[in-house]
Amino acid sequence: MFGVLQALIVSCCGCFHGRTLGVISMSCDNDATRGFGPLVPGHLKVDFGDIDGLEKIFKEHGDRICGFLFEPIQGEAGVIIPPDGYLKAVRDLCSRHNILMIDDEIQTGIARTGKMLACDWEGVRPDMVILGKALGAGVVPVSAVLADKDIMLCIKPGEHGSTFGGNPLASAVAIASLKVVKDEGLVERAAELGQEFRDQLRKVQQKFPDIIREIRGRGLLNAVDLSSKALYPASAYDICIKLKERGILAKPTHDTIIRLAPPISISPEELTEASKALSDVLEHDLPQLQKQIKKPESEAKTPVCDRCGRDL
Ligand SMILES: Cc1ncc(COP(=O)(O)O)c(C=O)c1O
Repeated sequence: MFGVLQALIVSCCGCFHGRTLGVISMSCDNDATRGFGPLVPGHLKVDFGDIDGLEKIFKEHGDRICGFLFEPIQGEAGVIIPPDGYLKAVRDLCSRHNILMIDDEIQTGIARTGKMLACDWEGVRPDMVILGKALGAGVVPVSAVLADKDIMLCIKPGEHGSTFGGNPLASAVAIASLKVVKDEGLVERAAELGQEFRDQLRKVQQKFPDIIREIRGRGLLNAVDLSSKALYPASAYDICIKLKERGILAKPTHDTIIRLAPPISISPEELTEASKALSDVLEHDLPQLQKQIKKPESEAKTPVCDRCGRDL
């Protein structure tokens, strides 16, 4: 066995696991890492969705790798969905090499993608699941790490803790929110509304085929992927500001992707309103923005990840 200092964790390029020091040490987001430190060593990177790359790393360093940390759909990276069969292949590789499969479902979990967990899309059971956000019903800050006892009890009671860990009120809210998800059929609701929403967004894409490159997503976690050339000098951020002015809250990721993750309680009419707002922004606001925005030529360049050197 290797000591803790020699153990390695593998994570994916483009990952986002939050802003604590351990996970920003694996981050490909320059904004999350620049100016923070010292970063923690002991991790390796692999392309998301690249099972051959993962196998190679496991074969080369498997005796030192303790875990593979991944998002089943990369949210911050722009709702990137892995190729079919990826999650199953990860499960298989992790089992073969005795490496923990650590599934970060903070963004994708609890009905968001039209399954209780996004790993359920491939019927896969990870060794550890990380939950947050929806667990507190969007009201109470609560997150959780789930694992079987043989893994969880590697840390003995009392060895690790935090001021608010195990908070009774937050725990009660988490249990109640899981009950609401089940009783109100929110998994099925996210699946159905998501399909309908993507159908509407694809109609907007047909109207603006040069601007919208792709509509993708699962359940109510969706992205509108825009062409940087057709947007220039505007960006996804500018489009989101215009959407906000039309009553729709959406989040840009990178310069060209809009992430749409509405509450699962949203009505079909509100989703239609959102699709219409996007269409209106592209038709009426974008040409105005393109006349107004002045950007220096240097900003037209694609930013590059400090860690991997890849285009962001
Ligand atoms: C996939 C994923 N992991 C981790 C986090 C970070 O969670 P926290 O802010 O609780 O550290 C986020 C937050 O957005 C996330 O989307």
